[in-house]
Amino acid sequence: MSALLDRLGVELPIVQAGMGGGIARHELAAAVSEAGGLGTLGILPADRLAAELRAARERTRRPVAVNLLLPFARAAHWSVAAEADAVVTFWGRPRRRVAGVWLHQCGSVREALAAHRAGADGVIVQGMEAGGHVRGTHPALGLLEQARATLPAGYPILLAGGLADAADVERALAAGADAAVLGTRFLTSDESRAHPAYKARVGESEETVLTELFGLGWPAPHRVLRNAATDRWLSGRDPRGPRGIRALNRVTAPLARRLPPLDPGRFQRPDRPLLSPQPPTDDGPSSLLDSGPLYAGETAGRIHDVRPAADLVRDLSGVGAAR
Ligand SMILES: Cc1cc2nc3c(=O)[nH]c(=O)nc-3n(C[C@H](O)[C@H](O)[C@H](O)COP(=O)(O)O)c2cc1C
Repeated sequence: MSALLDRLGVELPIVQAGMGGGIARHELAAAVSEAGGLGTLGILPADRLAAELRAARERTRRPVAVNLLLPFARAAHWSVAAEADAVVTFWGRPRRRVAGVWLHQCGSVREALAAHRAGADGVIVQGMEAGGHVRGTHPALGLLEQARATLPAGYPILLAGGLADAADVERALAAGADAAVLGTRFLTSDESRAHPAYKARVGESEETVLTELFGLGWPAPHRVLRNAATDRWLSGRDPRGPRGIRALNRVTAPLARRLPPLDPGRFQRPDRPLLSPQPPTDDGPSSLLDSGPLYAGETAGRIHDVRPAADLVRDLSGVGAAR
């Protein structure tokens, strides 16, 4: 048993990744935690995040984590995060902002060392196979091996990227991970708030692309399924996307972070070069299925069903499926 999971009171070494923009809300996080894993709420505006944490607490007494994307985390987000059992940060200089358990998701050994120095209670190392925003530039298991060899013995290291079934989890744990962190597999659960057609497309797709296309307000690499927008803009040789769009994403980023959240359903079209990071959710505009990012990892090619999160937790941890 990992000392970190023990400290948190988490029974099984399965962590559901925080998925922002409204995908991982209380239904998913509570279902994962209630099944014995660690559920994580994805970032939302702070008042909505607080409401999600309250709703999750009504469904489970087990630990629940909150994920904060550092470029978008404001003081009000940190106040909410302080109420969670753990905070997972991503994308930015690691710095302790809460008294409780703090994990930082990293894409390199260098970043993991910085998080350790900053007092993180553990790190998640993310391989380049991962879905969503991708910090990793190496395959997950290689990065884990390097991180284990560099960080102090016993320091908690969790692994994210490319994990979708019990054999993957077993391999990760055997290679020294304290726990497995999964995004794409939980995206395709009944409880995730991804648009149902988005979940179906994960099941149908064999291929993903690592791009910078949907970077309006957040110019950072991300792995997505192909859709009408990627077909329109990624026909050239550079999968990152046309230079003009990437330049526009960069120059508008500081402004976009200061303005109230935009409503991409109003302006986003597959053929318009204004492509925001908002994914399609079950309560958002369906037009984002064609014009928005369908974040998914390389495991999309191996995932062909949508299942209850509790069944996934049990299957992934090898304690026996509910069916
Ligand atoms: C739909 C989706 C949304 C994501 N959103 C976030 C996020 O808001 N914050 C974060 O730290 N990571 C996010 N990630 C990345 C995950 O933390 C994790 O690194 C990744 O899902 C692991 O790879 P996998 O998708 O192959 O399981 C997201 C991933 C996906 C698939």
